[in-house]
Amino acid sequence: MANISTKYLGLELKSPVIVGSSPLTDSVEKVKKLAAAGAGAVVLKSLFEEQILIDVDAQRVNNMYDSFGDAENYLTYYTKQKNIGDYLQLIKDCKQETTIPIIASINCTSHGEWVDFALKMQNAGADALELNVFVLPADPEFTGFDYEKSYFDIISQVTDVISIPMSIKMSHYFSGMANFFIRLSHTEIKGMVLFNRFYSPDVDIHTEKITSQSFQSLAVDNSMVLRWMGILSPKVACDLASSTGVVNGESVIKNMLVGAQAVQVVSSIIKNGPQVISEMNESLSSWMDSKNYKKTTEFIGKLNQKNVRKPILFERAQFMKYFSDADFVKL
Ligand SMILES: Cc1cc2nc3c(=O)[nH]c(=O)nc-3n(C[C@H](O)[C@H](O)[C@H](O)COP(=O)(O)O)c2cc1C
Repeated sequence: MANISTKYLGLELKSPVIVGSSPLTDSVEKVKKLAAAGAGAVVLKSLFEEQILIDVDAQRVNNMYDSFGDAENYLTYYTKQKNIGDYLQLIKDCKQETTIPIIASINCTSHGEWVDFALKMQNAGADALELNVFVLPADPEFTGFDYEKSYFDIISQVTDVISIPMSIKMSHYFSGMANFFIRLSHTEIKGMVLFNRFYSPDVDIHTEKITSQSFQSLAVDNSMVLRWMGILSPKVACDLASSTGVVNGESVIKNMLVGAQAVQVVSSIIKNGPQVISEMNESLSSWMDSKNYKKTTEFIGKLNQKNVRKPILFERAQFMKYFSDADFVKL
């Protein structure tokens, strides 16, 4: 029978299906269920830079406990501090109760004092750290260079502190994306996740208010990931995992064929329950048997841009086909 294990961030995963950072991974009970369903690893829900910074300040202020005139203020600090402690405990519990790799996650926008907390995550037993650098390049005062620099600054500050492997969950809002991602891959990071999913705004024309679109993705949302995975995987110097729109066994296989060492799944598990993970594993295994693949390394990247006969298929060819072949448009 086919061996569906894979290597990601230097970690051995018994399945390429990783449960992505989300409320699915915010308790040890849930993580145990996901592991039992066959997840190769989990990324714990993110801790936010802001939560950590409050903790840093709280410790500083705690030394001057008497200066807390306002009890409510103290309670706020205490609660936040407890969140941080809970997170470290979650890592410890998951390590104790399961055998799969546990990837901690921090959602950040800049480098700063929060970085030391990454070391605490490592000491609590996290096998790796995923940084979700959540920056939307919407500030007209900032150039593309400024935004790119903030990634390099964050990476060097965190990798100076920790020795466990680190990955970055990337957005796709960059110009010169291939160039930037390749340069990032030559830093100390061990992997990149393509892509982060931002909540997208919508407009309610009846109430005339801004609302948000569904937080769950669909299979169609995976096409952008397939494109960039195919383009980048033969060129970057680190591992790549797909995220967004991986909904079933077929999408797991597609993403691996274009170069993903692993895939991250959230929406499909929220919708279908943890058993969708075992279905993905079974589909992958029977597809590998049908193709006579014994190991995942035999087909990961087989259809990346370097290996396909027409590399332009990832870029301009489909565009030309759609726009010049008008026969399928009937009025
Ligand atoms: C309810 C919900 C909460 C999420 N929370 C986080 C988070 O804390 N940190 C993070 O990096 N990504 C978070 N994500 C994004 C997911 O990890 C994932 O990247 C995204 O949902 C796309 O994957 P999918 O198509 O399988 O859902 C969240 C997604 C959802 C639906």
